[in-house]
Parts: sequence; C-alpha cells; structure tokens
Amino acid sequence: MHSAATRPIAICASVTCADLLNLERDLRVMEETGVDYLHIDVMDGVFVPNYCLSPDIMRAIRGASSLPMDVHLMVTQPERYIDTFIDAGADVLVVHAEATVHLQRTLAAIRAAGARAGVALNVATPPSAIEYVLDDLDMVLVMTVNPGYAGQRLVPSTLGKIRNLRTLFARHERAADIQVDGNVSFDTAPRMVRAGANWLVGGTSSLFNSGWTIAEGVRRLRSVAQAAQKEAA
Ligand code: DX5
Ligand code: ZN
Repeated sequence: MHSAATRPIAICASVTCADLLNLERDLRVMEETGVDYLHIDVMDGVFVPNYCLSPDIMRAIRGASSLPMDVHLMVTQPERYIDTFIDAGADVLVVHAEATVHLQRTLAAIRAAGARAGVALNVATPPSAIEYVLDDLDMVLVMTVNPGYAGQRLVPSTLGKIRNLRTLFARHERAADIQVDGNVSFDTAPRMVRAGANWLVGGTSSLFNSGWTIAEGVRRLRSVAQAAQKEAA
C-alpha cells in the first residue's frame, strides 16, 4: 500500500476555468457539490507567458464563499508576495521551485505568515528539487502540463514523477499531499491517483466543460479518483 491510500482525495476547482461573469453562481455550485479547495492560478506574464487571477479577485471570492483557497503562484520571486496573497485569503500558498532561489526560506516564511506551504514542480524539474526541504512543506504540486494555459494534454512522464515523489517521501519517512495540475480528466485522474496523487485540480478537462455541468463533473471526478485510490490500496 502506498501512503496516498491514507490521504484523502481533495477536489480543487480551477477558478480561472469557471464562468467569470457568473462567478458567484458557479461558486455556489462548487460549495453545494463539496469541492474541497478553490484553486487560484496567479500568473505574472514572465514566469509563464500569460496573466491570470489576482489578490483582488481572491478578496471578492472571500466575500462570496467560505471554501478554502489554494493559491498557485506562477510568478518569479514569489517571496515578494507572500503577505499579499495570505492577506487576500490564501490557506495554502504554492510557489514554484524554479522561481525562488532560497526555497527553504520562502517556505518557512509562508508558514510563519500563517498558511500551509506548497512547492510546484515544472515538468522538467525532478523530485530531488525538494529533497532537502521536506520538513518545510505540506504539499507538492506536480505540473502535469507546462503551466500557463488550460486545455493542454498530459505529459506522460509526469506520472512516473508522482511515483518517484511517493518513494522519496517514504524513504525520508515523510508524508505530504501530492496535487496534480493540468489535463486532470476522468481518464487521466485514475492514473494520477494510482501513481500517488491525492489532490486534483479540475479545469476544463473535468469540472468546467460544456459537455456536462460543474456538479456532474465534481461528482464524477471524485468517484473515479476514490475508486482508483481503493484499487491502489
Ligand atoms: C495551470 C492551470 C491549468 C488549468 C487546468 O496552468 O491550473 O492547468 O487550470 O485545466 P485543464 O483541465 O484545462 O488543463
Ligand atoms: Zn494551477
């Protein structure tokens, strides 16, 4: 049994993929259907070639929903913005290993400011990037596509990376949540969960798709993920 079997599945809804003109309505559905986290993508146009959500949107969401927020900073030198995003409501603050020179100090600062700390790994970044900061993190986000855009295809090598992360945790007798972000679909999610992921970011591939409702997407994603976790146990 790998340790993922004992860590609960969390559905993290990618807010940038919601209907931003009807966000309050979509937020209500997410709450009613038991979404666990609102996944907030923040992009600076430098670390990734795109722009996205902001602290202002987070503050507006905070007034309309009580769901916790996991905030994925795709920005260079994220250590500059820790207080900004925690003040805006981040419960979990995730920085990219590639974006900050002093990763341990950045993670410690996130925890000291009162949030849980996460590290995101780009497709080409190996698990060893976090080997010496395992005591400083609560979650690892494995990018399963190159960050910056919704609607891309899974990069298959990232499944092996999830397995290697679980092995790394076991070797150090540490446990942490593993989040997957990018092309998490009803088809790919079971493979990601069997590899050891337990937090799933649902974007256009699962929750926000014109082929079905958000409520159907949440139910189906949770159900395929839980079945896969049971299988792997
Ligand atoms: C990261 C983003 C996207 C998106 C996921 O850059 O978090 O991965 O929300 O949605 P899809 O399902 O379109 O990849
Ligand atoms: Zn993300």
